Amino acid sequence: MQAEHREQWGTRAGFLLAAIGSAIGLGNIWRFPYVAYENGGGAFLIPYLVALLTAGIPLLILEYSLGHKYRATPPSAFLQISRPTQFIGWWQVIISFVIAAYYAVIIAWAVMYTGFSINTAWGGDPEGFLFGEFLQVTDAPSGGLSYVGPVLIPLIAVWIITLGVLAAGVRRGIERANRIFIPLLVVLFVALVIRALTLPGSLDGLNAFFSPDWSAITDSTVWVQAYGQIFFSLSVGFGIMITYSSYLRRRSDLSGSAVVAGLANSSFELLAGIGVFATIGFMAATAGVPVDEFATGGIGLAFVAFPEIISNMPMGELFGVLFFASLAIAGLTSLISIVQVVVGSFSDRTGLRRVPSVLIVGGFTALVSIVLFPTTNGLHILDVVDRFINQYGIVVAALVSVIVISWVVRQLKPLQDHANATSAIRLGALWRVTLGAITPVVLGWMVWDSLQTELSENYGGYSNSFLFATGWGVALGALALGIVLSLLPWKQRQQAAAPEKEVQR
Ligand code: ALA
Repeated sequence: MQAEHREQWGTRAGFLLAAIGSAIGLGNIWRFPYVAYENGGGAFLIPYLVALLTAGIPLLILEYSLGHKYRATPPSAFLQISRPTQFIGWWQVIISFVIAAYYAVIIAWAVMYTGFSINTAWGGDPEGFLFGEFLQVTDAPSGGLSYVGPVLIPLIAVWIITLGVLAAGVRRGIERANRIFIPLLVVLFVALVIRALTLPGSLDGLNAFFSPDWSAITDSTVWVQAYGQIFFSLSVGFGIMITYSSYLRRRSDLSGSAVVAGLANSSFELLAGIGVFATIGFMAATAGVPVDEFATGGIGLAFVAFPEIISNMPMGELFGVLFFASLAIAGLTSLISIVQVVVGSFSDRTGLRRVPSVLIVGGFTALVSIVLFPTTNGLHILDVVDRFINQYGIVVAALVSVIVISWVVRQLKPLQDHANATSAIRLGALWRVTLGAITPVVLGWMVWDSLQTELSENYGGYSNSFLFATGWGVALGALALGIVLSLLPWKQRQQAAAPEKEVQR
């Protein structure tokens, strides 16, 4: 696909909806509420806002500018900056490939739980149901692949939908899907929050969520958590935003769009915090225990605590459908964006058209996901891969890319000029200082902080060999494979998409 025939978004709103759809995902609904609660409640909003303004939005603008200036997915964009930096782009592609493989399976669970909500199929023991009857998880990771039908079938469906959307193209597939899914998600989720707020005890939950613990502000781990949340939640560092902005028209408002997408994502996150804690407050009041007892995040929140609450709530079945359908839709629009990084990058570097690219690399991603995750070992693999690819994949790749762009190839000023040429909000020296100094220091600190935890104890109590195979192996393998792919003699698009001429104001 040559630059001049590059696909484009139909409208700016279409691009924005897709960018927001990518950002709003599982991270907003099940990660944010608990991270905020655990890290100072109301006081967490301060490091969170600082992280949004000093790293999230500036990085979003950087990724938009990179994709838009070079009209290319990450490997081709970095290749055009300087050949040796191409490995960063491929590294991000492999990270996206890994995340897509496991992210899809959580959507498959949410799909099944939407159905389970109708008759509260988990009965009186949601935890036993999740790990036993439903996922059939082995006590400890073991060799061999034993498949779990009720996960395998919805997972295949999730992949068929995702690849179908991608095969239909940027405008007719991704944009159209987001135009349907995002308004639907907002309607379902707002209905859920309104219902949650009308439950007895909801205010206790909100009080627990928002009560500020000011001492948290002086704790460095709280800041690390805030930056980590902003990264995952805004989808920066995976190459997604470089990919999506490469399909923008020449005259596009880059910094304005980044601000809109960043604020929309954070607003949804806050809404999720309110909905989740109002619901937890109801449960705590019903059981006559402190909110603490039910506050949790991740799989424990969505697939254990919520089913229990749903069983105890008047018309809980409807609430369950709203919650799990929201989770599935939010996850699906993010998954579509993650797989597009892999498909678009392959297509850009080989010159293969969209549909064969979707079938070859999209199909391969789906195959790996389907072979590994709907198994009795799937949850163990997911747990470790998720931890390591986030801490040592996304974060380290983002760190390397800001250092290289700011200090090695010195592209911040040209990218700033590029963004300013077509954007409503003009970037100044502050933007460069943020990316060149604050972001690398914070990211470097984050990596150092998590490495210390990693070296002092085995994550999740897993064995060394399992952590090496599925944790370190995957995180370091992503970097190694990125380097190998950057050394391959790709035929097409060595310099196909020369940077467009800057549009002068
Ligand atoms: N940004 C996506 C999420 O929050 C990946 O889940």
